[in-house]
Amino acid sequence: MNTTLLEQLKSFGVVPVVVLEHVQDAAPLAKALEEGGLPVAEVTFRTKAARESISAMKQACPDMLVGAGTILKVSQVDEAINAGAQFIVTPAFDAEITKYCLEHNIPILPGTSTPTDVQAAYKLGVDVVKFFPAEQAGGLAMIKAIAAPYNMMTFMPTGGIGPKNMKDYLAYEKILCVGGSWMVKKEWIEQRDFAKIAEETKKAVALLKEVR
Ligand code: 3PG
Repeated sequence: MNTTLLEQLKSFGVVPVVVLEHVQDAAPLAKALEEGGLPVAEVTFRTKAARESISAMKQACPDMLVGAGTILKVSQVDEAINAGAQFIVTPAFDAEITKYCLEHNIPILPGTSTPTDVQAAYKLGVDVVKFFPAEQAGGLAMIKAIAAPYNMMTFMPTGGIGPKNMKDYLAYEKILCVGGSWMVKKEWIEQRDFAKIAEETKKAVALLKEVR
C-alpha cells in the first residue's frame, strides 16, 4: 500500500466503520466526524446508499479520507472508486478482489481472520490486512500469535472494538489502526443526532491520544 495512505491511517489510529441507509445522512455524518477530529471513514457496501454516500461525503469534506468496506465482488471495487473511495476493505480474504486492486494500483486491506488468510495475502504481496471479526476471532492474542511468523504484516482489527479495548490494540506495534462503529451507532444516525456522533468521536480521539 502507498506510504501516504499508510501514514494517514496510522496517524488517525481509528477508522469509523459507517453504515448509511440514507444518502442525506452522509454529508452531516462526514462533518461530524471531521468536527470530532477523525476525518476518515470506511463506508460499508451493506446498503444501497453506500456508493452515493461516499460521493456525498467527499463533496462535503474533500480532505476526508474515505474508503469502501464490505466489498464482496470485483464490480463493487470500480463502483466504490468511481464514487470517490480512496481505499478498499473486504471482510474476508478474496484473492480475485485483492489481485484486481493490486493490478490497478488501488489500495486494499483484505480481510483475514486466520494464518491461512494471512498467508494468502502475503503470497500476493500484501503487507497490511484487516483482521475481522477481531474480538470473536481471538482478539489481540490471536493477532500477536499470527504476527510471530508473519512479522512483515500490520493489521487493522475491526469487530467488537470500542472504548474498553481500543487502547490495548493500539499499544501493539503491529496494529496500524483499529476500526469500529461505536462512535457512529445506527440509532444516532437514525435520529440524525450528529452532535452525539461528534462528541463520541472526540472521546475516541482523546483515548487514542493516551496511547499514541
Ligand atoms: C466491520 O465491518 O468492520 C465491523 O462491522 C465493525 O465492527 P463493529 O460494529 O463491532 O465495530
